Amino acid sequence: MVKKHLETPYVELKRAWSWRKQAGLLNGKAPAVRVFYGPGEGTGILENVAVDRFASHYWVTVWEDIQGNQGREAGALVVDFLKSEEDAGLQSVVLLNRPEKGVPEDPYILHGAPPSGRFEVEETGRYLVQLLGAKHPGLFLDHRPLRNWLVSHARDWTVLNTFAYTGSLSVAAGIGGASHVTTLDLSKPSVVWAEQNWKLNELAADRARFIAGDVFEWLPRLKREGRKFDCVILDPPSFSRGAKGNFSTSKDLKKLHLLALDVLGGEGILISSINSANVPWARFEAEVLAAARERGMSFELLKRIDLPDTFPTAFEKPEERYLKGWILRLKNQKP
Ligand SMILES: C[S@@+](CC[C@H](N)C(=O)[O-])C[C@H]1O[C@@H](n2cnc3c(N)ncnc32)[C@H](O)[C@@H]1O
Repeated sequence: MVKKHLETPYVELKRAWSWRKQAGLLNGKAPAVRVFYGPGEGTGILENVAVDRFASHYWVTVWEDIQGNQGREAGALVVDFLKSEEDAGLQSVVLLNRPEKGVPEDPYILHGAPPSGRFEVEETGRYLVQLLGAKHPGLFLDHRPLRNWLVSHARDWTVLNTFAYTGSLSVAAGIGGASHVTTLDLSKPSVVWAEQNWKLNELAADRARFIAGDVFEWLPRLKREGRKFDCVILDPPSFSRGAKGNFSTSKDLKKLHLLALDVLGGEGILISSINSANVPWARFEAEVLAAARERGMSFELLKRIDLPDTFPTAFEKPEERYLKGWILRLKNQKP
């Protein structure tokens, strides 16, 4: 009989765990990090599985192809593995089935007892996450590099963070010394969560404004008020239904960027990120460039936003690198 630690899924999980451990990513009081990413690190039953660590609680995502029994089997393998590896003592594992289209089911408990409400984790700052009663824990781990970048660059900036969700990028800018951060999201509960995250990091209330509203209503409004920001962040979902109608990254990127450019100050930083596998790089670039040209603006490219190394993908499948974006600095404007 083949011993468990020699079986392929165990070896794949162990390999992923070991390099993160060596890189120090599992250290800290309550680390938040992706510990396994199936599309790059798994085969067979683990290919469509991701495992996120939030302190010693875990969130397993299972994508479309292997839901049902296979999803449960993959979850059980992950639980067995974590029981043997989690030095701090495995507290709980929750699993979410994510269909390719439509809303995921509610997450369910595979092991232990997850906190019933929000609890604190550490990454580039302190963030509240929630494993039960939500379709997402509240912290996008693929944006860790962008949060790091904001922590080291945002000093004295005024920042407008749109599509802000739970405000992790606002917090990172706040920790980085931004003089003022405006956090805007359509969802009122997300904006409340963002405000809690801001407070958790002991950032001053007078350095922040929180707005529950539609980006397509608020960007023109801020323009009418003559507001300009040193940094504007755009991180839209692939599709959304707002007060001002529908939005999709496959159709409306230029329109969104035109509105954002109207509130960008001189030498301002535009951070534009999308997580749409169906919009290729060339298309994304063309839309942003078209908006810049229409406004007579030119930009310096500071950084390309890409998936972090904790989200490796197969080299042969570049289309799987769904996260894409630019950090740009406004150079000049035609008179
Ligand atoms: C991909 S999440 C953003 C993640 C966030 N930037 C982060 O790093 O945690 C997309 C967010 O956009 C918000 N949203 C969708 N349509 C919107 C709109 N028209 N106006 C404002 N926010 C919108 C959603 O409520 C959701 O919180």
